[in-house]
Amino acid sequence: MIIGIPKEIMANEKRVAAIPETVKKYVNDGFKVLVEKDAGVGSYHYDNDYINAGATIIDDVEKLYQEADLILKVKEPLFNEIKGKHEIDMMKQGQYLITFIHPASPVNHEMVKRMADKGVIGLTLDGVPRISRAQNMDALTSMSTCAGYKGMIMAANSLSKFVPQIFSAVGMIKPVNALVIGVGVAGLQAIATAKRLGAIVHAIDIRKDAVEQAKSLGAKVIDIGVPSELSVGKGGYALSLPKSWLEKEREVISGVLKDMDIVFLSALVPGHVAPILITEEMVKTMKPGSVIVDVSIDQGGNCEITPSGKIEVFHNITINGIKNIPGHLSSSSTWMFANNVYNLVKYLVKDGKVNLDLSDEIISSMLVTNGNKIVHEGTLEAMEGI
Ligand code: NAI
Repeated sequence: MIIGIPKEIMANEKRVAAIPETVKKYVNDGFKVLVEKDAGVGSYHYDNDYINAGATIIDDVEKLYQEADLILKVKEPLFNEIKGKHEIDMMKQGQYLITFIHPASPVNHEMVKRMADKGVIGLTLDGVPRISRAQNMDALTSMSTCAGYKGMIMAANSLSKFVPQIFSAVGMIKPVNALVIGVGVAGLQAIATAKRLGAIVHAIDIRKDAVEQAKSLGAKVIDIGVPSELSVGKGGYALSLPKSWLEKEREVISGVLKDMDIVFLSALVPGHVAPILITEEMVKTMKPGSVIVDVSIDQGGNCEITPSGKIEVFHNITINGIKNIPGHLSSSSTWMFANNVYNLVKYLVKDGKVNLDLSDEIISSMLVTNGNKIVHEGTLEAMEGI
C-alpha cells in the first residue's frame, strides 16, 4: 500500500502529516511512503531526513496524488494556486483521504460534495470519538491542546495591555479579564495559559463536568443554568441547545462582555455547526482594543462576524479566525499529529488493506464520503438546515 504525504497549501500552514520518525515506522510496517518535496520544512523536517527514513521524495504533487492509495494530510482539501487545480481534482476514485475535513461547516459543503463526486473515501480526524481506545489516534485533542495554548498567546499578543497585574512607580496596572466560552480540551488549555500569563479568568460551559474542571484550574465560573438533560447527551458529550436556551446564554454573555479584554471561543457540539454565542451587536458593546479568538471557526465560529481564516478589526475589536493555530506551533503540533495519524493508520489498515468496518464506532464516526455518497450524519443535517 502506498501512502502519500503532500505539502500543506493553506496559508501559513507549517504542519505536515508524517515526520521521519513515523515514516520509518510505516516503512517497517510494509508501506511505501511518498513525500512531496519540502513537505516538512515548516516543522524543520528536511527531505534528506525523510529519505533516510525510507521515503521517496516526489517533486510533482499531482504524481503523488495519482500513485498513492492513502493520502495523509493535515487540513481539508483546498484549491492549489500553483497547480491551478483543486486538491480533490488531483485525487482519484477509491483513494482514501485522512485529514481534518470539518465536513459540517457550511464553507466545506461544496468541497465535501466534490469529494463524493470524485469517489474519494474521506475519513475526518475531527470525527475520532473521545473514547479511551481511540485516545492515541485523537489528533483533534492534540490540536485542541495546541490551539488552546497558542490561541491564548495570540490573544495576549494582539492586546495593547499587560496581561498580569503590574506594579510600577506611577501606579498599579490591573490584570486583564479573560473569558473562555466552551471549556473542552482547547478551552481548558486556554484557561491554564491565561492563568499562567496572570489574567483573571472567567469561564462558561453548559456541561457540569467542564465547569468543575474550569474551577479546578482557578477560573471563575459564570453559570447559565442549563439543566443537564438538555446539555449532556450520550457519552458525556454536549448537546446542541434549544434556541430559547441559546438566547438565554447570549443574554448572560452580554451581561459580562463589556468587562472582558480577551474572549476565547471554543464552544462546540461535535459533528455540528458551532453555536453563535456572540452577535455583531454584542461585539459593539465590548471595550475598544479587546480581542476575540474564535477557534471554533472550522465549524463556522461562535461569533457571528469572525473572519474565516484571518485576523481583522471590527468595531475596534480584534477578531481572530485563524483556522490553523496549531500550525503556528509547528514542531510540537506536527509531532503530536504525525504520531496520532500513525496510530490511526495502524488501526485501520489490516493486511495491506484499509478495513472499513462500519460497525466500529471509530471508523463509522470518521467516515464522511464513501461509494460516491456523503455518509456523515452531522454534515447531512447541516446541509439540510441551509
Ligand atoms: P470539545 O468538544 O472538547 O469542547 C467543546 C466545549 O464546548 C465542550 O466542553 C462543550 O460542553 C462546550 N459547549 C458546547 N455548546 C456550548 C454552548 N452553547 N455554550 C458553552 N459551551 C458549549 O472541543 P475542543 O477539542 O476543545 O475543540 C474546540 C474547538 O476548537 C473546535 O471547534 C475545534 O475544531 C477547534 N480547534 C480549532 C483549531 C484552530 O486552529 N482554529 C485547532 C484545534 C481545534
